[in-house]
Amino acid sequence: HLILETLDKHNVIKDTRELVLPGESKPAATQEAQLAIIAALNSLQSRNMVVYQAHEVLSYSLTPEGEQIATQGSHEARVWAALSEKGGEPVSIKDLKSKVGDESAKVGQGRAFKSGWIVKDGENLFKAVSSIVDTTQEEMVEIATTGTLAAGERAINELKKRKLVVQKKGQWYDVAKGPEFSTSTAKPETDLTAEMIANGSWKTSTYKKYNFDAEGIPPTGGALHPLLKVREEFRNIFLEMGFAEMPTSQFVESGFWNFDTLFVPQQHPARDLQDTFYISDPISSKPPPKDYYDKVSTVHTVGGFGSVGYRAPWSDEDSQKLLLRTHTTARSAYMLYKLATRPKGPDGQEGGFKPVKMFSIDRVFRNEATDATHLAEFHQVEGVVADRGITLGDLIGFMETFFSKMGITNLRFKPAYNPYTEPSLEIFAFHPALKKWVEIGNSGMFRPEMLEPMGLPRDVHALGWGLSLERPTMIRYGINNIRTLVGHKVSIEGVEKSAAVRF
Ligand code: PHE
Repeated sequence: HLILETLDKHNVIKDTRELVLPGESKPAATQEAQLAIIAALNSLQSRNMVVYQAHEVLSYSLTPEGEQIATQGSHEARVWAALSEKGGEPVSIKDLKSKVGDESAKVGQGRAFKSGWIVKDGENLFKAVSSIVDTTQEEMVEIATTGTLAAGERAINELKKRKLVVQKKGQWYDVAKGPEFSTSTAKPETDLTAEMIANGSWKTSTYKKYNFDAEGIPPTGGALHPLLKVREEFRNIFLEMGFAEMPTSQFVESGFWNFDTLFVPQQHPARDLQDTFYISDPISSKPPPKDYYDKVSTVHTVGGFGSVGYRAPWSDEDSQKLLLRTHTTARSAYMLYKLATRPKGPDGQEGGFKPVKMFSIDRVFRNEATDATHLAEFHQVEGVVADRGITLGDLIGFMETFFSKMGITNLRFKPAYNPYTEPSLEIFAFHPALKKWVEIGNSGMFRPEMLEPMGLPRDVHALGWGLSLERPTMIRYGINNIRTLVGHKVSIEGVEKSAAVRF
């Protein structure tokens, strides 16, 4: 405040030793006072409110003996004061020693004689003058308050020799207004808040300069969840095998893409509310591409492409119902449809089918009772390979290569049923810890009823498979309750400490 107000009045402070600090009566010439001033200057300068320059000075302070003189007077003055004038009470040297002490009696006598303050009469001492000026005491007081002597260096050197003062290095400052000068010492803002914008105070606030050199607080957390580690590992296997990732970020599909395109009959139990979460708002999707839609509904109701179909009634409403996808195969169907209807390239490159290897790893939703190994949402690892003349042998070969990359070499295949694949195979692997065969995936050759309405050529065959991400993760990390892997019971510490995976 003092600094800012003085600057406000005088524009500059030429010498901070001339300031009178609050609660003091004399200027702040001492080093202690300058130390208090520099602390304030530094804080004001960091806010660009002032600029200052430091100047070196030699300043002096009193030794303990000097301090004693400042308060009690010099030895010679004390000797003089202990004596009486001629005709008064005689004081012997011995008496003097007991009155002022040995030290003062010894040093003070000589100096008092030299100054003509006292005389000797026989054994006794008397005052020679009726009043004295104790310059030494005055000088001590001057040094204590100003740090130096106006009388100059010679006088100071004299006092140094007498070991009454010591020299020390000190600093003083000259101060001018900085670019952000203001008499208000309100702390500058470090954050621009919504409130400040709303009440307009941002216009008049001062802001703390951003410190680009400050180092951030090192984050204590930051670890991939085990599921994400396993996902990364799967993804690497797919990428290494030349697969491209399918875009699967939409969780909501229609009955058409999730079921109809996959030749899942509209009466299939999996479509029931028990298995599928339907969306209530909006309740239905935009209509799918008309000619494809017509082909799909035809193959369901009356057949085609060598199939007799389901011969069951068809509901447009069921087809357009919105739902949370029950499998990522909905996206595989969409990608295969896109592939079949791929337009010609801008430079006349061939459109339509080309061989593909695609994968996705993403979330699916099923309205199932949850328990230690089931949740209403989980992740599917999905793969699709489409090419001319692919056979069941390719499917088995692919499975063996794919799983061997995870360290699973001993596979068994069991015939199974999916509405969209024929043949379908469940994949089993021997679990050495559990000492039994466990199902690790489901797969098959996509049916012509699914591929041909899309417009894929007859000789193009596609194989696909799906597995859960949670199951290998639980096996890999020795987790036997899925709730300790997903949900609010997951231990952050466990996540941070879980090791990287290596299949
Ligand atoms: N969609 C199947 C499932 O949810 C997995 C699968 C995908 C099967 C592709 C065959 C072909 O279990």
